[in-house]
Amino acid sequence: MDIIETANLTKTFDGFTAVDHIQFSVKKGEVFGFLGPNGAGKTTTIKMLTTLLYPTEGSASIAGFDILRQRASVRKNIGVVFQEPALDTELTGRENLDFHARMYGLSPETRKKRITQVLSLVDLVDKKDILVKHYSGGMKRRLEIARGLMHSPTVLFLDEPTLGLDAQTRRAIWEYVKLLNKDEGTTIFLTTHYMDEADFLCDRIGIIDHGKILVIDTVDNLKKSVGHDVITLSCSDVKRFQKRLEQESWVSNVTPHALYLTLGVERGEEKIPVIFDIARIEQVSISSVDVRKPTLDDVFLYYTGRSMREQNPEAPRNKTVKPARFWLRWWKK
Ligand SMILES: Nc1ncnc2c1ncn2[C@@H]1O[C@H](COP(=O)(O)OP(=O)(O)O)[C@@H](O)[C@H]1O
Ligand SMILES: [Mg+2]
Repeated sequence: MDIIETANLTKTFDGFTAVDHIQFSVKKGEVFGFLGPNGAGKTTTIKMLTTLLYPTEGSASIAGFDILRQRASVRKNIGVVFQEPALDTELTGRENLDFHARMYGLSPETRKKRITQVLSLVDLVDKKDILVKHYSGGMKRRLEIARGLMHSPTVLFLDEPTLGLDAQTRRAIWEYVKLLNKDEGTTIFLTTHYMDEADFLCDRIGIIDHGKILVIDTVDNLKKSVGHDVITLSCSDVKRFQKRLEQESWVSNVTPHALYLTLGVERGEEKIPVIFDIARIEQVSISSVDVRKPTLDDVFLYYTGRSMREQNPEAPRNKTVKPARFWLRWWKK
């Protein structure tokens, strides 16, 4: 049995289907990611798997425990880092962890030992006695990850772990996530709308859009499934050149953007002179050209018919919850 299994997991809100009969499994020790734009249904899926929301239909199990019938056992086996920050900013880092550890009923000795372990895992030992309100965004995120690990969960859920963080801090968080996956053997389920994050962290990815999983595979296989080099062309008449290139049998996936075109070809470098010849005959002027191997963005485009970058504005992490009360509510539910 896999560590996470779902069958037809579905959530509707007043007739609107946010998560639509999703089916996937995650193996022990894997880093598995849901990649999808805002509103795709990622958080709703995490909320169902972590017993915060009841599914409308379908079922799932975590570490063999049913999310509907064995909720307490599920919660004991998981750590969660929610999309919205849920820390007590008037407490120190250590106190936040201690509160969490007490909630899980860890003995004073275990608490002390474990707090030191998780703090050192995310490099916060020196900052443990500082009030969280004085932490930077990256430090808060690391503390939340540490808290999720306090009770040595089998599975750690990370909902958009680096949302709103700067590039350098995001890199650091990635390293910690890799480390805890390797050193603690924690299975990780994460969601993200960042291609680079999914690419760097995940063993396997499910691409999710409008509540449906479109494809699940390793990052390499997904890129191979797109199967060709991607050429990006800036040119004077995008629409006309698109129509013209679509007539060529060796060109696939011609997609117009505002000022440029992307297209798929085999052996891209060899096709560039041919494309320039066509442009000359058509009297289209090309101002720049770029050839590259497929990225996850191309994979997304291939499976959804649109680019994720173009329709995914940055969502700020500005929603706050009442921390201590929130956790107690979750634990007792
Ligand atoms: N409590 C709710 N009531 C109504 N609609 C909701 C609720 N939660 C989420 N949704 C809707 O469900 C869809 C999926 O949301 P969500 O799971 O948060 O997406 P993601 O995390 O991928 O951005 C969105 O269209 C969102 O507006
Ligand atoms: Mg979300």
